[in-house]
Amino acid sequence: MQRSKPRILVTGAVGQIGSELTPALRERYGHNNVVAAGHKTKPSAALRDSGPFEFIDVTQRETIEAVVDKYDIDTICHLAAILSAVGEQHPQLAWNVNMNGLYNILEVARERELARVFCPSSIAAFGPETPRDNTPQETVLLPRTMYGVTKVAGELLCNYYFCRFGLDVRGVRYPGIISSETPPGGGTTDYAVEIFYEAIKYKRYNCFLKEDTVLPMMYMPDCIKATIGLMEADLSSLTRHADYNLAAFSFSPSELVAEIKEHIPDLACSYNPDFRQQIADSWPRSIDDSAARRDWGWKPQYSLAAMVADMLEKLGRKHAEGKLQST
Ligand code: SER
Repeated sequence: MQRSKPRILVTGAVGQIGSELTPALRERYGHNNVVAAGHKTKPSAALRDSGPFEFIDVTQRETIEAVVDKYDIDTICHLAAILSAVGEQHPQLAWNVNMNGLYNILEVARERELARVFCPSSIAAFGPETPRDNTPQETVLLPRTMYGVTKVAGELLCNYYFCRFGLDVRGVRYPGIISSETPPGGGTTDYAVEIFYEAIKYKRYNCFLKEDTVLPMMYMPDCIKATIGLMEADLSSLTRHADYNLAAFSFSPSELVAEIKEHIPDLACSYNPDFRQQIADSWPRSIDDSAARRDWGWKPQYSLAAMVADMLEKLGRKHAEGKLQST
């Protein structure tokens, strides 16, 4: 049963996306209607004090059940996951958290007949055989990373729960997400956040990808807009469930450097590709997100230039106040 205002549990709430999606959901649906759940990392004071906070280990189903029952949750935003680079260093951990964690979330939701579950997929669902430019919605899904394997399997599992049990599971294939609040952890697209911290602090950056590696990216306000947009869409307008392609802009490290140099002209960037280059080389350069645009009116707002200006303004202010954390 869905109420006029959902009661939402956000797993991974302390992470890069969760730490900004949770406040946005609290603002929209009421602070006490959105329970933030972290694993081990301590929440910021803002996250902890603006609504309920609990610790959950998604691989332990009873920890999810306890929170869902305590707060009478009807909607889960399941963001807890191991990303691509850490996933390659610890594939068993990535499988356990990403697959068993998702399975537990879906089972808790099925048993309690929850109204809705959101679980993101990623551009990592694609692989080297996928067309890399304007990657279609329906295409080859043969990822080479464990993260990507869990994302494809996750999409399929979510789809299964919709078709078999009628559970309303929704999700998008996020591109690399750029944000100023919480640094990402363990991804291949993380360079596009790190570079801002280093540019502001030291005016130099050593990039772990080659200068011409183009990847699809998105600024956090658009990520939040997309997530809430899909969550609130009429089910009858959706032609897909957990695998909507999603895009904003694409750029390479050298194109990002050129844009940052518009503001910090003496930024110096060197390039020393590591194991993450191979991961990036297996992902698309740009994405066709016309299904999302058609079905639920998705449209990004931020361009590369607007994102860079906003990041530098926000992080520059933190730096001036001595509050710029390290990535
Ligand atoms: N940003 C993610 C990563 O780099 C992709 O989903 O792993």
